[in-house]
Amino acid sequence: MGSPIKRQVRVGIVGAGLIGRTHSLMLRLLADAVPESVAVTRVYDIDAAAADALASQWPEARSCAGAEQIFDDGSVDAVFVCTPTATHRELCLGAAASGKHVFCEKPLAMNSAEADEIRAAIERAGLVGQVGLVLRFSPVYTVIAAMAAQEGAGRMLAVTMRDDQDFPVRGAHASKWRNQPGLTAGGTLIEHSVHDFDAFAWMFGPIRRLYCRTRVLNGAPGIEDCAVTEFDFAEGFHGQL
Ligand SMILES: NC(=O)c1ccc[n+]([C@@H]2O[C@H](COP(=O)([O-])OP(=O)(O)OC[C@H]3O[C@@H](n4cnc5c(N)ncnc54)[C@H](O)[C@@H]3O)[C@@H](O)[C@H]2O)c1
Repeated sequence: MGSPIKRQVRVGIVGAGLIGRTHSLMLRLLADAVPESVAVTRVYDIDAAAADALASQWPEARSCAGAEQIFDDGSVDAVFVCTPTATHRELCLGAAASGKHVFCEKPLAMNSAEADEIRAAIERAGLVGQVGLVLRFSPVYTVIAAMAAQEGAGRMLAVTMRDDQDFPVRGAHASKWRNQPGLTAGGTLIEHSVHDFDAFAWMFGPIRRLYCRTRVLNGAPGIEDCAVTEFDFAEGFHGQL
C-alpha cells in the first residue's frame, strides 16, 4: 500500500443516488468535525441533474460529464463507486488504473471472478480498496463479535438471523435497477444478504456448506426476493438466515 495521505482527502463520487448521497452526508460530518480532513470535489451520474444536486452540497465540487473526467483529474485522491452492481467492475478498474483509491459499494461485483480482478488491480497499484460492508462497523455487530470472542463465552451452539428489507424495488431501496437482471448480481441473497454472510464469516468464521430455498415474488427472473438458508460453519455449529 502507498504512503498515507497526510492532507485533505479529495473524493470523487460516481453515482448520486441513495447511497451516493448518504456517503456525501457522512463525509460532510467528517469534514465538519475535522477541518481540512476530506472534501467531495467531483461528482458523476448518468443523470446529470442528480450529479448537479449532489455537487451543489460541496463548495468546491463540480459535476462531470463522465467518470473518466474524475479518473483523469490529478487532484482527486479517491473514488466512491455508488452505482448499480453491473457497473462496478469497469468503474473500479478505471479508478485503480488512474491511481485513485477505491471505495466500492457492495456487492463488489457480479461474480467472484470479477471481484478477484478488481482486488488484484487495486493491490497491484498499491492502493486502498474498501467495500461498503457496513455491518462490520455497526455497534450491534461489533458488540456481538466481542461477546462471542470473550474468554469463557462458551461454545457457540447455533446462530440465527432474520433480515427483512423491502426488496428489490419498494420502500427505502426503491430503485430502477434492482429487478433488472443485466444490472443486478441477483436477488436478495447477493444484493442484500451479502452483508449478512460477510458479518457471519467475520464474526464466526467460514461457512462450510449451505442449503437455500428462494422465492421470486416480484416476477423478475433470477431475482429472488425471499431466501431461507440453513448452513454449517466450519467450526461445527449451525446457522439459519
Ligand atoms: N452499503 C449499504 O448499506 C448500501 C445501501 C444501499 C445501496 N447500496 C449499494 O449502492 C449501490 C447503488 O445503490 P443505490 O441504492 O444508491 O441505487 P440508486 O438507484 O438510488 O442510485 C444509483 C445511481 O447510479 C446512477 N448510475 C447508474 N449507472 C451509472 C453509471 N454507469 N455511471 C454513473 N452513474 C450511474 C443512477 O443514475 C443513480 O443515480 C449498489 O451497489 C447498492 O447495492 C449499499
